Amino acid sequence: MKTTDIVRELSEILASNYILYIKTQNYHWNVTGPAFFGLHAMLEKMYNDLFTANDDIAERIRALGNFAPGTASEFLKLSFVDEPTEIPSAEKMVETLLADHEKMAEKMKKLAQNADEGTQDLLSPRVATHEKTAWMLRSFLAK
Ligand SMILES: [Fe+2]
Repeated sequence: MKTTDIVRELSEILASNYILYIKTQNYHWNVTGPAFFGLHAMLEKMYNDLFTANDDIAERIRALGNFAPGTASEFLKLSFVDEPTEIPSAEKMVETLLADHEKMAEKMKKLAQNADEGTQDLLSPRVATHEKTAWMLRSFLAK
């Protein structure tokens, strides 16, 4: 895979990770209902992890010799994760985040299969983290 293609996909992943970070913090602030305490605390752990990943992904793009997207408008344009348009119920928040983390894992896995070793090293632990988060969110939804 050419470096320009890797950088293009990493830029989309960075944008999506950033939007997911904002979305998760939004839900941390605005979640309501009987599951409030558990979700409020868990969402904080999740957005802190995503915040750290923003930096790692952006700096991989720099290490590959390119500038990283760094504005909100670029992130919105490049992201495959959608922004919320309203404050959903706690259950709907978890459903949405589950789909987002599954999508992140899927996109990263696909890129890692065709990317250089340094990019693979960045993506492999991120895939595992997204899959672990997806498992927790899925378990929350289990009846
Ligand atoms: Fe907080």
